[in-house]
Amino acid sequence: MYPTDRPRRLRTDGIRPLVSESSLSASDLVAPVFVDATTDERVPIESMPGHDRVPVDEAVERVEEVRETGVEAVILFGIPEAKDARGTRAYADDGVVQRALRRITAETDAYIIGDVCLCEYTDHGHCGVIEESAESDPTLTVRNDETLDLLVETAVSQADAGADMVAPSAMTDGQVRAIRGALDDAGHEDVALMSYAAKYESAFYGPFRDAADGAPAFGDRRHYQMDPANRREALREARLDAEEGADVLMVKPGLPYLDIVSDLRREFDRPIAAYNVSGEYAMLHAAAEKGWLDLETVAHESLVSLKRAGADLIVTYFAEDLADRL
Ligand code: PBG
Repeated sequence: MYPTDRPRRLRTDGIRPLVSESSLSASDLVAPVFVDATTDERVPIESMPGHDRVPVDEAVERVEEVRETGVEAVILFGIPEAKDARGTRAYADDGVVQRALRRITAETDAYIIGDVCLCEYTDHGHCGVIEESAESDPTLTVRNDETLDLLVETAVSQADAGADMVAPSAMTDGQVRAIRGALDDAGHEDVALMSYAAKYESAFYGPFRDAADGAPAFGDRRHYQMDPANRREALREARLDAEEGADVLMVKPGLPYLDIVSDLRREFDRPIAAYNVSGEYAMLHAAAEKGWLDLETVAHESLVSLKRAGADLIVTYFAEDLADRL
């Protein structure tokens, strides 16, 4: 009548840590940092409590703050001084991210990743070059192959400025091959590439689009980002990126897509990254503010879940707060 197999024996305080299957440490985490060319002082991001847009002059200081918590890796996003149809400031030698990169890599030992996309830099807010008439007909979409050239220029200019890794996030077909080839041709064989391999067309990016001022002015991203309903397609995307030379494969968002993290972990021998996105951060903060959830605990549980599903590294706005505690 009574059980002989008792899993509860392994849950006492003494043995729990010994049999723990997943762990989280500061060295698993990447902290996003927003550098803003339009401001001289830090501007708090309302929908992402604790995060600011920082001026280029404070980029080094900001990265040092991250490193003090034990997190050594940062992914940089830029808010340019001006936007245009072709996102020119994304690949300008004196662009906001390029300027920040030069300073950060000269003055710190942090591992710096450059996000490679055009949506923060185009006046229409899409991740690439759009059809002439797209404004009147939002079913027309981003031109894939014309966008490739601009993403390549962006990645190479970030590598020239000192990026350790580039992370193409535009969901343009062929972007990994094009960027890898161009980096190698430019003598940047040692610059690593993390692809946003399975990036979904997700409403969980809402707060980020406020933070980086990158919401599409019309239409949406469903013609280039993945359909949240699709699982098999993520394997196809990841396979293409692995074949094209991605060193790390990322799944984004994180928590709503744990099945995808798990699939990629099983199918590929590359490191898997998960992006715990702005909406995942904002919703826990909002609930905690109401007293409905305990912030530290749910944040920790979220990230452990991503590790358990198979992520090796996690990009998260919780990086500093959690690392401080770990
Ligand atoms: C750029 C990019 C986005 C995010 C990271 N890189 C926005 C988007 O695709 O709309 C979102 C990150 C987040 O929500 O935390 N393409």
